[in-house]
Amino acid sequence: MTTRKKKIVSKSSPKVKKIATKKPTKKKAISLKRKGPVVITSTGVVKIYKSTNVEVTALDGVDISITEGEMVAIMGPSGCGKTTLLNCLSGLDSINSGSIKLQGMELESLSDDKLSEFRAKNMGFVFQSYNLLPVLTTVENVELPLLVSGTSAKDARKKSEAKLDDVGLLEWKQHLPGELSGGQRQRATLARALVNEPAIVWADEPTGNLDSTNEVEIMDLLTDLNKKNNQTFVIVTHSNYVGGRANRIIKMKDGKVVK
Ligand SMILES: Nc1ncnc2c1ncn2[C@@H]1O[C@H](COP(=O)(O)OP(=O)(O)O)[C@@H](O)[C@H]1O
Ligand SMILES: [Mg+2]
Repeated sequence: MTTRKKKIVSKSSPKVKKIATKKPTKKKAISLKRKGPVVITSTGVVKIYKSTNVEVTALDGVDISITEGEMVAIMGPSGCGKTTLLNCLSGLDSINSGSIKLQGMELESLSDDKLSEFRAKNMGFVFQSYNLLPVLTTVENVELPLLVSGTSAKDARKKSEAKLDDVGLLEWKQHLPGELSGGQRQRATLARALVNEPAIVWADEPTGNLDSTNEVEIMDLLTDLNKKNNQTFVIVTHSNYVGGRANRIIKMKDGKVVK
């Protein structure tokens, strides 16, 4: 008994304690931040639209860097270049100068064919206006990107049904888009954008046409998928609610990123 007591006393003697707490342990201030590999980089990106007698500098030297698994919102006033940035980053539109790298690959270095292939395999797109084909059923719309990239009809149907289930639309699979509500249509668009499990999902005003209840639903779905699959989401939005759900907001003004 007595020896044990003694031991305790000597261990917690103030001298020893002081030395122990003085050990130089550097605080890791950045440990809370997400630190995956960088998947999207733009450096000094300039995009100029030229028509007969007008030139519009839509992007005026944009530098951004987005890491894997991040959900980023791009915000700013109408006309500041958000859609242009999304189109350029995803390779849908060309740039005048600067550089864009996706997963370390320089977009400019890819041929049109290679770029289309890369896009089909690695990217999903969600737009404000749904872009569902009205003559195809919901499940046919969702399986389209799979069929385009060579998946067999049977597999495409199976995967599409699974994705429709994820977004809560399985029982609507045989309906035409015109028979769905706005919120349901946007969920079908999401299923289509995500059916081939793309590494990067681009969304331009995905909740722009939705009421607040549907906006919450869509954002719940997006954040769920983002966490579950570590996919990277880049979302252009006017909505402060959507901005608040993102990990980070990139603010733009007059073709530039503002701090
Ligand atoms: N295809 C185009 N031809 C000419 N000008 C364009 C074109 N697309 C966009 N712009 C111009 O580029 C600027 C940025 O537009 P945009 O990227 O659509 O802004 P945002 O999405 O932030 O509203 C605007 O001044 C717009 O008029
Ligand atoms: Mg826009």
